[in-house]
Amino acid sequence: MKFNNIAYAMALSSTLSLSGTAIAGQDQHSYANLEQVVTTHVHLDLDINFDKKALEGFVEHTLSWQDQKSKQLILDTRDLEIDKIMYKTQNGVWHKASYKLAKRDRVKGSKLTINLNSQAKKVRIYYNSLPIASGLQWLTPVQTASKTQPFMYSQSQAIHARSWIPIQDTPSMRVTYSARIQTPEDIRAVMSADNSDVKIKDGDYRFNMPQAISPYLIAIGAGNLEYKEMSHQTAIYAEPTILDASIAEFSDTQVMIDKTNLMYGEYAWGRYDLLMLPPSFPFGGMENPRLSFITPTVVAGDKSLVSLIAHELAHSWSGNLVTNATWEDLWLNEGFTSYVENRIMEEVFGKDRAIMEQSLEVARLKEQLEKIDAADTILNLKLNGRDPDDAFSSVPYIKGQLFLLYLEQKFGREKFDVFVKQYFANYSFKSLNTAEFVDYLNENLINKFPGIVSSDKVNEWIYQPGLPADAPNPTSNVFKVVDINLQAWLNGSTKLDSLGSEQWTVHEWLHFINNLPRDISINSMKKIDAAFNLTQTTNAEIAFAWFMLAVGNGYQEVQPALDKHLTGIGRRKLIVPLYKALVKHNKKDWANKIYQNARSGYHPLAQGTIDALFK
Ligand code: BES
Ligand code: ZN
Repeated sequence: MKFNNIAYAMALSSTLSLSGTAIAGQDQHSYANLEQVVTTHVHLDLDINFDKKALEGFVEHTLSWQDQKSKQLILDTRDLEIDKIMYKTQNGVWHKASYKLAKRDRVKGSKLTINLNSQAKKVRIYYNSLPIASGLQWLTPVQTASKTQPFMYSQSQAIHARSWIPIQDTPSMRVTYSARIQTPEDIRAVMSADNSDVKIKDGDYRFNMPQAISPYLIAIGAGNLEYKEMSHQTAIYAEPTILDASIAEFSDTQVMIDKTNLMYGEYAWGRYDLLMLPPSFPFGGMENPRLSFITPTVVAGDKSLVSLIAHELAHSWSGNLVTNATWEDLWLNEGFTSYVENRIMEEVFGKDRAIMEQSLEVARLKEQLEKIDAADTILNLKLNGRDPDDAFSSVPYIKGQLFLLYLEQKFGREKFDVFVKQYFANYSFKSLNTAEFVDYLNENLINKFPGIVSSDKVNEWIYQPGLPADAPNPTSNVFKVVDINLQAWLNGSTKLDSLGSEQWTVHEWLHFINNLPRDISINSMKKIDAAFNLTQTTNAEIAFAWFMLAVGNGYQEVQPALDKHLTGIGRRKLIVPLYKALVKHNKKDWANKIYQNARSGYHPLAQGTIDALFK
C-alpha cells in the first residue's frame, strides 16, 4: 500500500483490540446473542455468480465467548440458503454443527441458531444468497453504462448485510474482515477494505480490512471497473465511460480530506477512494470505509453537487469511527455528518455556498415536518419494530445538523470545535447511543460552560418533536437577491430576461424553482421554460425540482423528459417524490406505465418503496 503514515499505523494498532467490543441487548433489529458471544473477525470466501445472481461460498466467524456457559451462536440472515455449518474443535478438526433457521420475520429476516458442542473459536457457514437479496443489486450488461459486462454491488445499511452474509447485523458491534472473492476474469471486484490486490484484473481478489467496523459497512462492488488515481490518497473506480468525467468532477476530494484533518483529527482509514455506481443506485452515496459508493447523478459537470462527497467523507469521522449503536440513534451518524459536510463545504467553497446549501436543506426539512407524524420528528427515533428504512427522513440529517449549529452558535466555534474533535477522539472505533451522547455532551460542554444552554433545551432538541422556537434559521444573502428578483417578476415589474439569472449557480436555480408559487399558471411555466429550457436541464437536482412543480400543476410538456428521468435514474430521493406526486395529481396510470417499464432496472429497495404506491 502506497499511503502510509504514523497516524494510520496508530489507528490500526488502537483498533485491532476494539473488534469484538459490543453493547449487548439493545438493538431491536438484531437477533444476535451478544451477551454470550461476539464475532471479532469475519472471513468471506465467495464466488460472484452473475448467471444465478448469487454469492456462493462460505463465511468464517472468529468468535470471542463472553459467557463461559454458552454454546450457542445466533446470527441474522434474510433470504439465504444455508448448505452446512462447520465448527473447528480445539485439536483443529472441523465438525458439522446443528442449526435451525427460523421462519422469516418481515423486518428482521430469519434468526439462525447454531448449536455447538463446545465454545469453538471458528465457525463456518456455507451458503448462497438469492437473486432477491435486499442488500444486493444485480445488473445485466444492458443495464450498465458500458453495456458489455454485468455489474453487482451491495448496500448493507441499515439491516441488509444479513441478506448476503449470515452475521451479527447490529451497529453496536464491530469486526475486522478479510475476503477472497472470485469473479469472471474480465470483472474487477472492490470492497470497503484495502483494495491493493485488485490492480491486476484476473477474477481472483483478496481483501483485508484490519480496522474494526460495524457490519453495515462491509461492502462489495463488481463490474467493468477501471480506476485512476486523483491524488496520493484518492482514486476513482468506475465504468470506463464515466471515469474521466468523475475524476474532473471530484478533483477537490484531497483538499476536502486535508481540511477535515485539520478540523477534526487525522483521517483514520488510509486511502479514500470512490466507486461510481450505475444510475440505479438507490442513494446519493454510501460511506463504505476507504471506498465511498457514489451515484453518477452528481456528476453534473460543474462541481455543483459535490457536497455529496463532503458528506460521505465526513462519515469517516461521524459514522465509521464513531458509530450509532442502534438505528434509533441514526442522527448521531447523519446529523453530525451533515454538520461536518457543511463545514467542509465552507472550507473548500466558501461561506456563501455553505449557507445556500444549509438554506435549501432546511427548506426541505420544514416541508417534511409538515407531512410526517410528529413522533417521527424526534431526533432519538422510536422505531417500535419498524424497518429503519420506513422512518427515513430529513429529520436525523437536518434537524440533527441544526441542533449542532445551535450549539456552535451558542458556545462559539472555538469551544464547539474542541468539543467535537474530542468527542470523535474519545469514541473512536466505538458505538454509542443517544443517552450516552447526552451524558457526554452535558459533561463536556453544557455543564463545563454553565449558563449558556440548559439541559432542558438539549432534551427538547433530542426528545421532543418538531423544531425548537429558537432553532437556527440559516438565511442566504445570495438567495435574498433571487427572492427580490422573483417577486419583481411575479408582480410584473420586471421581465424574465432581467432576473440576473445568467450568473446563477445551480443553488440559485434550485432556490428560484422551489420558491415559485406552487399554483403558478401553466402559461407562466411555459414562459419560464421558453426562457430557460428547464425541462431539458442536465442537472438531476434542477430537473427534480422543476418536474415536482410541473406535476403539481399539470404542466404536460415535461412528460417525455420526466419519463426519461424516471426511467434512467434509481436514486430514491429523485424519483419517489415524483411518483407520489403523479399518483396524487391524477396521473397514476401514466406513472404506473413508466414504472412497469423501469422497475426491473431499479434496486430492490426502490422497488419495495414504489410497489407500495401502485398496489
Ligand atoms: N449513510 C447514508 C445512506 C443511508 C442512510 C442508507 C440510512 C441507508 C440508511 C449516506 O451517507 C447518505 O446520507 N446519503 C445521502 C447523501 C446526502 C445527504 C448528501 C443520500 O443518499 O441522499
Ligand atoms: Zn450520510
